[in-house]
Amino acid sequence: MASSSASSRRASQPRFIQHKKEALWFYRLISIAYDQILNPPHWNEDMRDDALEPADLHHPELKVVDVGGGTGFATLGIVKHVHPENVTILDQSPEQLAKARQKEALKDCTIIEGDAEDLPFPTDSVDRYVSAGSIEYWPDPQRGIMEAYRVLKAGGIACIIGPVYPTFWLSRFFANVWMLFPKEEEYVEWFEKAGFKDVKLKRIGPKWYRGVRRFGLIIGCSVTGVKTESGESPLQLGPKAEDVNRAVNPFVVIVRFVLGTTAAAYYVLVPVYMWIKDKIVPRGQPL
Ligand SMILES: C[S@@+](CC[C@H](N)C(=O)[O-])C[C@H]1O[C@@H](n2cnc3c(N)ncnc32)[C@H](O)[C@@H]1O
Repeated sequence: MASSSASSRRASQPRFIQHKKEALWFYRLISIAYDQILNPPHWNEDMRDDALEPADLHHPELKVVDVGGGTGFATLGIVKHVHPENVTILDQSPEQLAKARQKEALKDCTIIEGDAEDLPFPTDSVDRYVSAGSIEYWPDPQRGIMEAYRVLKAGGIACIIGPVYPTFWLSRFFANVWMLFPKEEEYVEWFEKAGFKDVKLKRIGPKWYRGVRRFGLIIGCSVTGVKTESGESPLQLGPKAEDVNRAVNPFVVIVRFVLGTTAAAYYVLVPVYMWIKDKIVPRGQPL
């Protein structure tokens, strides 16, 4: 069975929201304020267009899936180019999907509940796989990327947009408590192990960070890979580690949820701090 460098970090770093049940509860709570308050400091329209550019979506007839599509923020970038009838949004959170259903521009998209690690689409069935800001909650990111590979047609492109691991010690502490912040090389390794070719990583960030990456970015890169041959991923993994329907101890879920959400609050403050610094520090000087 294959293992990845990210899973080898798992034992020492709890990542309290990198489990499906806690992620479900987390989004039950934050979907109330996701689009208006929590998302914009980390993931805005300029960043979205920049991040989706390597996915080469400029063909209206493409069949596209947006996995972990949530309230449809990334999907709004996809339907600028692709006919909404050809776009499917999948997410494990009914609360997030309810917000997507309210958006006029997404009314012709197919919207379904599902798990990124076990996609309900046939092998070789879509032209583009997009997933923005979701991989950090997947208990087994390598499996999710294998699923991306499986569902794509030969010649199709996967585009996964996600966080990057901080180098500043305090940010590392809160990142490790909250969820998965992969290193750039881990993304590339997962894509290549899944079978993707021409794997590329593009750095993304809010413009008021002026390129600073040491605090960790919730949306820090866009990784693309091309599936060159039809069929399933050449990588073999054992059975899924987690089933979202499996019974769990509610006390454990609550404790994990509270600890993880507390750590996440640090990342609400980081962009505010960077935004203030951007206003104060003269242009040309390091932030
Ligand atoms: C930060 S939101 C991103 C939403 C959207 N893609 C965007 O661009 O704003 C992460 C989403 O991933 C979803 N998610 C987390 N784990 C998932 C899984 N295993 N399968 C499907 N969706 C998942 C969450 O429910 C949430 O809606």
